Amino acid sequence: MILYVNRIRVAQSKVATHRMQRLVVVFCALFCVSTCSGDCPSGCECFEASWTVKCISTSLREIPSDIPGYTSNLFITGNEIRRLNYNSFDGLKNVTNLVLSYNGIKEVASHSFSSLTMLRSLDLSGNQLSLIHPEAFSISGSPLQELNLSSCLYNHTSLTDLITALRWGGLGSLLRLDLAGNRLVLLPPGMFSPLPSLQRLFLGNNSLVAVYNGTFSGLERLVRLDLTRNAFRTFSAEGLRELERFERARLLLGENPYACSCETEEFADWLNSSRVQVGDSERVTCFSPPELRNAAVRALTAQALGCYGKPKEEGVADLTLQTSYVFLGLVLGFVGMVFLLVVYLNRHGIKKRVTDTHRACQDVLDAYQYRYEIDSDPRLRHISTNNHQQHHRHTAEPHTGRIPSDTCITPVPADITDITL
Ligand SMILES: *[C@@H]1O[C@H](CO)[C@@H](O)[C@H](O)[C@H]1NC(C)=O
Ligand SMILES: *[C@@H]1O[C@H](CO)[C@@H](O)[C@H](O)[C@H]1NC(C)=O
Ligand SMILES: *[C@@H]1O[C@H](CO)[C@@H](O)[C@H](O)[C@H]1NC(C)=O
Ligand SMILES: *[C@@H]1O[C@H](CO)[C@@H](O)[C@H](O)[C@H]1NC(C)=O
Ligand SMILES: *[C@@H]1O[C@H](CO)[C@@H](O)[C@H](O)[C@H]1NC(C)=O
Ligand SMILES: *[C@@H]1O[C@H](CO)[C@@H](O)[C@H](O)[C@H]1NC(C)=O
Repeated sequence: MILYVNRIRVAQSKVATHRMQRLVVVFCALFCVSTCSGDCPSGCECFEASWTVKCISTSLREIPSDIPGYTSNLFITGNEIRRLNYNSFDGLKNVTNLVLSYNGIKEVASHSFSSLTMLRSLDLSGNQLSLIHPEAFSISGSPLQELNLSSCLYNHTSLTDLITALRWGGLGSLLRLDLAGNRLVLLPPGMFSPLPSLQRLFLGNNSLVAVYNGTFSGLERLVRLDLTRNAFRTFSAEGLRELERFERARLLLGENPYACSCETEEFADWLNSSRVQVGDSERVTCFSPPELRNAAVRALTAQALGCYGKPKEEGVADLTLQTSYVFLGLVLGFVGMVFLLVVYLNRHGIKKRVTDTHRACQDVLDAYQYRYEIDSDPRLRHISTNNHQQHHRHTAEPHTGRIPSDTCITPVPADITDITL
């Protein structure tokens, strides 16, 4: 019985709460219609209680001029706004948080945000900025603390523009900068030095390949640096020295295509022993060679990297020496081949010449031997003086005397050949 009564009470109270809720909803709707319908730009939603205005995907072509003055959080995204002008945000002194992502913005004029003297956070992500004027971000008093420029630089010229705008923007209070997804390949040295307060720098999802001396100069307060999803294959000694300056920061280096060869040894040692904190070192893994794919770089020894425990310089020197020997061998081989080819092509001519020479030599030698025999036999000499043929031989004396000291290739005088016949 008691249980039954209780159940009825519970049911009654449930109905009551439900009625109350409906009443509140109706009251709120009435309140909102009475207050919001007044000065809210068409296509936008205005929430006075939270000082928030949202103009989302309503094909706006420019920033509405009738945004309420109380607005503190302004979201204008997914529209078709091509250009921001110096007076686009006039009269919006209370805006602290401005989101302008995915509006197809191409151009940001100088002093576009200068009326927003309370602006803390600016999000321009997902636009196609191709023209950023040098003083695009300047606001007197430097209130800006967060700047989101992810996936918004149109091409390399925009990066140059941006660097100028960072220098001229008076961004001394900026704490957080997002430059992810901008296909950045190279960061010019000193690019971030106009941002002395910066604490968080997001450079993920770009195409960065190297860090140099000065890449991060001026960033003394950094606590977080995101270099994930780039194109780093390793970090050079110079790059590691540059990263070494972030002793108190948390670095993210994962998801890069690290090539684990002997050149990676220094990086592996650094990961294992540096005081710099790499927050995702378990994700710093080899992409190549295939046999080391997904191996943690920090766990790799010199042997595993193919350095065979040699000091790096020696290995390199050996390699150069080997390379030059191989090159020399190749050149000699080539010369030899060419020689053989020439010989092969001329084989008939050469054969003829060789037989000719051989015959000539034979003749000369025969002649010499004949003469020697005659000269060494006194009887024959005596007889021969009267001989017609011997007379002939005497006239050939200067030639025959010279022959032994000469090579066989010397043209043989015809008269000597005659003798042997
Ligand atoms: C801006 O904010 C200040 C204080 O937060 C407030 O007093 C002022 O009325 C606001 N301005 C407008 C136009 O609502
Ligand atoms: C910047 O904007 C992108 C996309 O709009 C978002 O994913 C990212 O989290 C933002 N960055 C920061 C640091 O809030
Ligand atoms: C970048 O785009 C702008 C505008 O289309 C063009 O004028 C400029 O030449 C481009 N720069 C490069 C490096 O392609
Ligand atoms: C990475 O950047 C490209 C633009 O360079 C962008 O289209 C893509 O959405 C980004 N990926 C992520 C996961 O943010
Ligand atoms: C790095 O650059 C600074 C000046 O920008 C120079 O003083 C220093 O010697 C350089 N360090 C190396 C290792 O090249
Ligand atoms: C990492 O460093 C420790 C000492 O700091 C050393 O004993 C260990 O062998 C190192 N590991 C690699 C893979 O270099």
